[in-house]
Amino acid sequence: MFRSIVVLLSAAIVPFVQAEDCPQNTQEVALAIKTLTASSSCKFAIRSGGHTPYAGASNIEDGVTLDLQYLSAVEYDATNNAVNVGPGAQWNDVYDVLEPLGVMTTGGRSSTAGVRGLTLGGGISYFSPEHGLVCDNVREFKVVLADSRIVTASQTSNPDPLTVLKGGNNNFGIGGLVIYPESTIQEHFKALIKFADRIDENPRGSAIVMPVYQSSAGADLILNAYDYAEPVPRPAAYNEFLAIPGNISDTTGIRNMSSLAAELAGATTHSVYFGTLTFANDLRVMTKAHEIYMDVVSNLKVKGKGDWQIYVLYQPLPPAYWRQSVAKGGNSLGLEHFGDQVLCLYQPYISWQGAEQDALFEGAGADLVNRIRGYAESIGADNPYLYLNYADKTQDPLAGYGAESVKRMKAAAEKYDPVGVFQNLVPGGFKISTV
Ligand SMILES: Cc1cc2nc3c(=O)[nH]c(=O)nc-3n(C[C@H](O)[C@H](O)[C@H](O)COP(=O)(O)OP(=O)(O)OC[C@H]3O[C@@H](n4cnc5c(N)ncnc54)[C@H](O)[C@@H]3O)c2cc1C
Ligand SMILES: *[C@@H]1O[C@H](CO)[C@@H](O)[C@H](O)[C@H]1NC(C)=O
Ligand SMILES: *[C@@H]1O[C@H](CO)[C@@H](O)[C@H](O)[C@H]1NC(C)=O
Repeated sequence: MFRSIVVLLSAAIVPFVQAEDCPQNTQEVALAIKTLTASSSCKFAIRSGGHTPYAGASNIEDGVTLDLQYLSAVEYDATNNAVNVGPGAQWNDVYDVLEPLGVMTTGGRSSTAGVRGLTLGGGISYFSPEHGLVCDNVREFKVVLADSRIVTASQTSNPDPLTVLKGGNNNFGIGGLVIYPESTIQEHFKALIKFADRIDENPRGSAIVMPVYQSSAGADLILNAYDYAEPVPRPAAYNEFLAIPGNISDTTGIRNMSSLAAELAGATTHSVYFGTLTFANDLRVMTKAHEIYMDVVSNLKVKGKGDWQIYVLYQPLPPAYWRQSVAKGGNSLGLEHFGDQVLCLYQPYISWQGAEQDALFEGAGADLVNRIRGYAESIGADNPYLYLNYADKTQDPLAGYGAESVKRMKAAAEKYDPVGVFQNLVPGGFKISTV
């Protein structure tokens, strides 16, 4: 089914099937599901972009990886103002088709992230403050069910998946990365809090504050991403950020979506840890989180070997992301329960080389998340939501969707997958049956 509620990894596991054996079309995906489920003992994985970092999410050992890389066609449908996207496409494939036509869609901020995984988990786009999450802009999914039937799931009879933003432009707007010394962190947190609180006044603006340490550079820095979906120089939304002096580098300018997405392309040569936490848009939590981060990084500086990096992302999770969900057909994330609360989405992104260092770096990520959660809880600034696309395998993002949503997902899983194919034969990812 379209929401198989699996999350898989993509570490260096030798593919079980050769690339030529991968399905080339929907009928072949259905045939693969039929074949794989016939014995009811062969475990398998589903891989779209393959960007989930932990091993076993979108691949499998002693099983079959259903790699959807050949289903990557992207077609713009001008009549319906939509773009039809195969599950194997990455966001750069989408932007390469749309950008020359002068249209755009709600999509990932990194060229290399996969379209399907990002969409199934929610999907945060530069256009989300104005148009909502990526999943809420999908008009129709083509789905292969557990019994191998091919069905469509849609709100309307419109035959195409992603709604295209009219008036989308070759020149996405103003965007880029700005680097500052770590000593300015308090000013960044204060600016981010105001920015998030005022996002409705300026729904074209996005900002991410990222403390960063790279072993190759050897300096504690802050890397901010500013992106404004209109080519306006120095938008007022960024006044507080623009008042922070002393930046070390600045790539902001009038840019197109593909060049901005390429600037945030993911690493392919390193192991990666993702983890996530949501808390109130509160300076006390951010200040404490940074104190804990500096402590964790000082330990990594002593023990980490070779080339490694840590980024921790602070980004607004404002009501603007969920306000339109219900009107657009609803989703499973349960965010509407947070009403008018402005939240902060936190994500450590750590990369390193060498399996012997997995415990050190994965442990550092878990330590950050657990200590910060502990502090947020102690002052009542915690929040149960965990963004699935950023979650580590040890976390339980589906539980954070809330009881009502969990009940609905369990019922859907039982209705469309009564034998539990996606619960039992697809071990990767987060399973609704275990929530
Ligand atoms: C560099 C980088 C930048 C990112 N930027 C953003 C961003 O801007 N916004 C954002 O919201 N997120 C972002 N993410 C997170 C991203 O949304 C997740 O990593 C997402 O899972 C990627 O999708 P994928 O198709 O590449 O992953 P995969 O690992 O292929 O899939 C993810 C999960 O979904 C399952 N799945 C995939 N395809 C299907 C299918 N067709 N049917 C059923 N199940 C399926 C897989 O089995 C797996 O469990 C980023 C990640 C990276 C690494
Ligand atoms: C996007 O910008 C890049 C870098 O400036 C440029 O090379 C590319 O041609 C642009 N793409 C389109 C479709 O305009
Ligand atoms: C970065 O610093 C330069 C040089 O001082 C300045 O011109 C630029 O506006 C700064 N950028 C931001 C985003 O503040």
